[in-house]
Amino acid sequence: MKTVKNLMLFVALLAACLASAQSLPPYLDPSAPLEQRIEDALSRMTLEEKVAMCHAQSKFSSPGVPRLGIPENWMTDGPHGIRAEVLWDEWNTAGQTNDACIAFPALTALAASWNPAIASLYGISIGQEARYRNKNVLLGPGVNIYRTPLNGRNFEYMGEDPFLASSMVVPYVQGVQSNGVAACVKHFALNNQEVNRHTVDVVVDDRALYEIYLPAFRAAVQEGGAWAIMGSYNRYRGQWACQNEYLLNDILRGEWGFDGVVVSDWGGVNDTRQAIFNGLDMEFGTWTDGLSEGVSDAYSQYFLADPFLALLRSGEVPVSAVDNKVRNILRLAFRTTMNPDRPFGSFASPEHGNAGLRIAQEGIVLLKNDSSTLPIALDSAKKIVVIGENAVKQMTVGGGSSSLKVKYEISPLAGIQARVGSAASVTFVRGYVGEDAGAQDGISSGQDLSDSRSPQQLTAEAVAAAREADFVIFVGGLNKNAGQDCEGGDRASLGLPYGQDHLISELARANRNLAVVIISGNAVSMPWVDSVPSIVQGWYLGSEAGNALASVLFGDVNPSGKLPFTFPAGLEDVGAHSVGEYPGGDSETYHEGIFVGYRWADRRKIRPLFSFGHGLSYTTFAYGRASVDSKEIGPDGSLTVTVPVTNTGFRAGSEIVQLYISDLKCSLPRPVKELKGFDKIFLAPGETRTVSFTLDRSALSFFDPVLHEWVAEPGDFEVLIGASSSDIRSRVGFKLHR
Ligand code: BGC
Repeated sequence: MKTVKNLMLFVALLAACLASAQSLPPYLDPSAPLEQRIEDALSRMTLEEKVAMCHAQSKFSSPGVPRLGIPENWMTDGPHGIRAEVLWDEWNTAGQTNDACIAFPALTALAASWNPAIASLYGISIGQEARYRNKNVLLGPGVNIYRTPLNGRNFEYMGEDPFLASSMVVPYVQGVQSNGVAACVKHFALNNQEVNRHTVDVVVDDRALYEIYLPAFRAAVQEGGAWAIMGSYNRYRGQWACQNEYLLNDILRGEWGFDGVVVSDWGGVNDTRQAIFNGLDMEFGTWTDGLSEGVSDAYSQYFLADPFLALLRSGEVPVSAVDNKVRNILRLAFRTTMNPDRPFGSFASPEHGNAGLRIAQEGIVLLKNDSSTLPIALDSAKKIVVIGENAVKQMTVGGGSSSLKVKYEISPLAGIQARVGSAASVTFVRGYVGEDAGAQDGISSGQDLSDSRSPQQLTAEAVAAAREADFVIFVGGLNKNAGQDCEGGDRASLGLPYGQDHLISELARANRNLAVVIISGNAVSMPWVDSVPSIVQGWYLGSEAGNALASVLFGDVNPSGKLPFTFPAGLEDVGAHSVGEYPGGDSETYHEGIFVGYRWADRRKIRPLFSFGHGLSYTTFAYGRASVDSKEIGPDGSLTVTVPVTNTGFRAGSEIVQLYISDLKCSLPRPVKELKGFDKIFLAPGETRTVSFTLDRSALSFFDPVLHEWVAEPGDFEVLIGASSSDIRSRVGFKLHR
């Protein structure tokens, strides 16, 4: 309502100016230069109006300047769909009937597509949904690096590799912002776990900071042009990240030239003076019921509210301190709410459903497929049994701030039934029972999944059904309940919950025609991996989940996703666990440094369960020899690498060709290899295409912590071309000379 009022006021002001034939004041003149508009608006504002803009007025909004027709800011989670409207000062749903959105696949699924065009489709579509709902800031995407498979929020992020996450975040941000909606990239920075997230002081060396944890944020800012960044809850160098001199002033604004707004995470501010001087612009969530402490309607008590105003009034803090923040907030307004050219958006449309379907189909990963168990052939599979709670459980409700109220959600079972139609019989058997959650913030999936049968009964029933069937599809994994893929806590273990390991092993004994579909945003251990012929990583796929899964299981779509993070065989194979102090306490040192994910596995010569970059297809691809256009390059030169790839099977399909760089000798330890290029190519059966990559010195550089700059050290390098990080098909050497 307030937004509508403000808009009306703005229009009325415009109309009044036009009617009286006066020229527009510069801040209202869209043709005036942006910085001039900002200074003009600022010069018209009172101190109180300025301070008011720096903090929330409700759970998800902050004031504009009603007197001047400058609209409020309305934020929304993010990052997989537009969060339902909540009450003014509560997390609870406002109970509206016009806010059920399309849920897009979780960001891990997007990252698994390895397709920047798909990230662009995602950004454009979710941006349209946000715009239609009159939100000018989308709280997402998240690009915190996957450091441990226990992190309860990994499903909201883009995996373990900085190059992949950077390549995917840029088109997402640009897509969102093409709607006049700011993408608020989160959580800056080093929020790599949920346990201790409000307190932990992360100790990490500069190389790991710059090489692993910051690149995706930098790409979002410098290449994607992100208009907003959200600080994280944790501390770094003893200061909370939302009020962190080093992260916000020195790096974000100083080194990267960020000119957008820095928004706190909800309840992430802890000190007025640091919040004033260390780069934060807008404070959200402090002391509001449900987070941090429990004072209702405490907005005037926020660190950047009355306490800030008092310091300004007394002269202890110069007015320039608030002016700097308001400039950034006004820049946000001119880019979003006050941009007369922004489109109107669209919501919960069939087009968005289709976009979600395409993203999901490109992200599904075929992990294993012995004897071409998949796709399921309906001429022989006449009796199909679907087993497992995740075949029916709604996954869009729950998980924390990314929980959604959706227009619809096709479950895996419904998708399979719709696809099979009358071609075969499809029965469902429960198999196991998880916790009966399925509600958050007053929004419920409407499902009652409680079941009083014992695990023994459920297993016996499932095994009997599996014996009778022509084909068994097991759909299990994790869910969005607390302690699994859920904000606010981490997973207790890498293993599957609810006795699924035992059940899967029994099913594998009962029927060889078995596909195991894992729904999760995280790696899980698979003690049964050798006995199960086919495994599909199905992620959280949103509204179109069931249709997307069915299209892959039955071969309408040839799977083409690859893992955006390593599936370790056990936690001892993860750097954060073996040397890295996870979960820390008041502080946590990332002793593994730059050796995260496959970098750790390579260094320690560990064979993962499934490697970063792994993913199969229903066809096969042959790689020819990679070649370089020159065996030597100079410091400012570039190198072109080409490799022919052929579809050697009988189906059309897409392959993700990966390029890794190996620095053979360096004055500092370097990873065995690092992803520096990839291309997803579509090939008809028999077709060959030559993939080409151009590399410059940035692909060869490491961050020198002493010089505090990126350095490419002359010497011998190798280009590795692979189908995954552990399936290198061709290598070629070259030299970087001075
Ligand atoms: C989360 C953010 C989210 C915010 C608002 C916080 O608890 O960490 O990611 O955007 O709440 O819901």
